[in-house]
Amino acid sequence: MNKDVFAVKGNIVFTPGPEGFTLHQESYLIVERGVVREICRSLPAEYAACRVEDYGDRLIIPGFVDLHTHASQFNQRGLGLDLQLLEWLNEYTFKEEARFAARDYAAAAYQAFAAEIVRQGTTRVVVFATIHKESSELLFNILARKGIGAYVGKVNMDRNCPDDLREETEQSLRDTEEIIRRWQDHPLVKPVITPRFAPTSTEKLLRGLGALAVRYNLPVQSHLSENQAEVRWVAELFPAQAEYHKVYDSFQLFGQTPTVMAHCIYLTAEAVQHMKMAQVMAVHCPDSNLNLASGIMPVRKMLAAGVPVGLGTDIGAGQSLFMPATIVSAIQLSKLYYVMQPECKPLTLSEAFYMATKGGGRFFGAVGSFEPGYSFDALIVDDRAEHARGRSLLERLQQFIYTGNAADIAERYIAGRKITV
Ligand code: GUN
Ligand code: FE
Repeated sequence: MNKDVFAVKGNIVFTPGPEGFTLHQESYLIVERGVVREICRSLPAEYAACRVEDYGDRLIIPGFVDLHTHASQFNQRGLGLDLQLLEWLNEYTFKEEARFAARDYAAAAYQAFAAEIVRQGTTRVVVFATIHKESSELLFNILARKGIGAYVGKVNMDRNCPDDLREETEQSLRDTEEIIRRWQDHPLVKPVITPRFAPTSTEKLLRGLGALAVRYNLPVQSHLSENQAEVRWVAELFPAQAEYHKVYDSFQLFGQTPTVMAHCIYLTAEAVQHMKMAQVMAVHCPDSNLNLASGIMPVRKMLAAGVPVGLGTDIGAGQSLFMPATIVSAIQLSKLYYVMQPECKPLTLSEAFYMATKGGGRFFGAVGSFEPGYSFDALIVDDRAEHARGRSLLERLQQFIYTGNAADIAERYIAGRKITV
């Protein structure tokens, strides 16, 4: 028997589409070379000799995809959240990120971040580091050693930030390219072009980053229309551009290669149409948007317009790395929005679960589902038989999402490999 084939057995739950869950009670999921082959009720004869990891009555669900977070703000969670975005950046975030010039500080923070995302059930993450080349590479290494799937961004900033975080434009581009060359072929941890956001970038920097994205065919991540003062500031800084998203677009940073944009709260209908047309992914970060009083992303409108939407924890503006908590916040916020605007129906659990798995997973390729050909990224959820007894699989999933925590996650798999906490 091919050693690259094994089966897991349990109660399999996932969302092939946003409209509902697919449930396979007490079934086998066959994994070949890290990829889902099929799901079946009994083990087919051709797999009779393969290893079966039997999880009994436990749930097997896709690992979570955190499409936007800041590893460098791990130590800052919960601080200064009475402020709004621009004040919070100046008072807390830039001061914290300046500490990542020191290798030891960065190593400890990034180790703690990596351990925590694994513990919390995140199997894929799109993440900001800081401007510092050396400590950003530490983050690549730490995530790779853990076996986590990630896009890691060395941040680029060359204006409107403290002196100790301001890069010289050419050097910023050179450092970025150096990291790209070293990491572009890694199977799991890859570089992503990361202008922090328009206000901390000169046109020259954005032009250079867009050229790198296109030349190396690399994805892009940034922040877009998070806060009203930020949106006004972008209009002042880039008077030639009619709207915020056009700043990124005019420098090849808006869908010319796969792109994720966090927040997307104050967008015109035209900007939403542009995102749909260019298939730029919007990342909804509900906890962050609540904490910094940023606003509410009109998720229903984005979905109705055909914009792909994923979920992000956005720590340190968000407080938690536990994606089920982000799923719940997204649903709750959509209900508040619905009360104000009844034409925008609330998100359902399956829609929000989809965003946190297959919806966001598409940024990584075939990730976030258990359909044949998808990467086997999975969590084994042990919701303890006593209180789960008599409940349907769907009810057990509901309780895990709303009331569970990391202690309920018994095992994690990424690309078919079991990851240790
Ligand atoms: N916009 C620019 N930088 C940041 C950041 O670090 N966090 C959030 N939430 N928004 C930003
Ligand atoms: Fe962010």
